[in-house]
Amino acid sequence: MQNISSRELHKQIQMHLESLRLSGVEWLENNNNSTLQISEGLAHKSPPVDGEAAVTNLPLPEKSSTHSVLHSLEKKTGLLQLLKEEVANCVKCPQLVQTRKNTVFGVGKIEPDICFVGEAPGSAEDEKGLPFVGEDGLLLDKILKACGLSRDEVYFLNIISCKPPDKRLPLPSEVSNCRGFLEKQLALVKPKVICCLGSCAAENLLDTKIPVNKLRGKFYDWKGIQVLCTYHPLSLLRTPEKKKEVWEDMKFLISHLGRVLPKLGS
Ligand code: URA
Repeated sequence: MQNISSRELHKQIQMHLESLRLSGVEWLENNNNSTLQISEGLAHKSPPVDGEAAVTNLPLPEKSSTHSVLHSLEKKTGLLQLLKEEVANCVKCPQLVQTRKNTVFGVGKIEPDICFVGEAPGSAEDEKGLPFVGEDGLLLDKILKACGLSRDEVYFLNIISCKPPDKRLPLPSEVSNCRGFLEKQLALVKPKVICCLGSCAAENLLDTKIPVNKLRGKFYDWKGIQVLCTYHPLSLLRTPEKKKEVWEDMKFLISHLGRVLPKLGS
């Protein structure tokens, strides 16, 4: 059995409570049938640190806002790690569990300007367990570079976390099984803007049947986060004429974020 300090155990319980709270669970039932509310305070209350009892009558140093920002990013990193482990152990979609090599969780910066949402992992992603690392990922890297962005400044994730077999689209049941993971991840990552890549991402995130070509050029709201839709890089590989429209969408997004495009050739 693994040895774990009470402080570490407390931290893990806190992270689990916070993860439950973020996924919408408000109450837990006790053994004696009473209920316990998972309030933000409860999930956040820190245990006394080792040796704190001995110094409780000393004034505590003031915590700077930089400290609390770091603290909250650290906490989110821990919660995302727990969620990633939950995804890796998920067996809700029997066919995908049979055919997947790896689950593919999101990667990138927490609280970025942009989070790109794709459809589902392809073969390269399934192999490496990372999103957008195939041919369409390379094209996405070029688009990012043209926008003055690097991979570690943004976040990438997919509507579903496992590769569907035979290059088929995710089934509605698979999308719905993965929805909780997607929503919890977006709530933790908290991007300024979500950029949906392609119809699968746009239609499923926004719960619409309007095709992506009609959704482009306008911001939508998803739980308080702005959403812009554009074509998937894979469709640019098939239909290069769409590159012009994607570039229009990216320029619109970059200027909306108050960022400046790099000079040509830089
Ligand atoms: N296509 C997607 O939609 N997502 C990936 O991660 C890779 C390819």
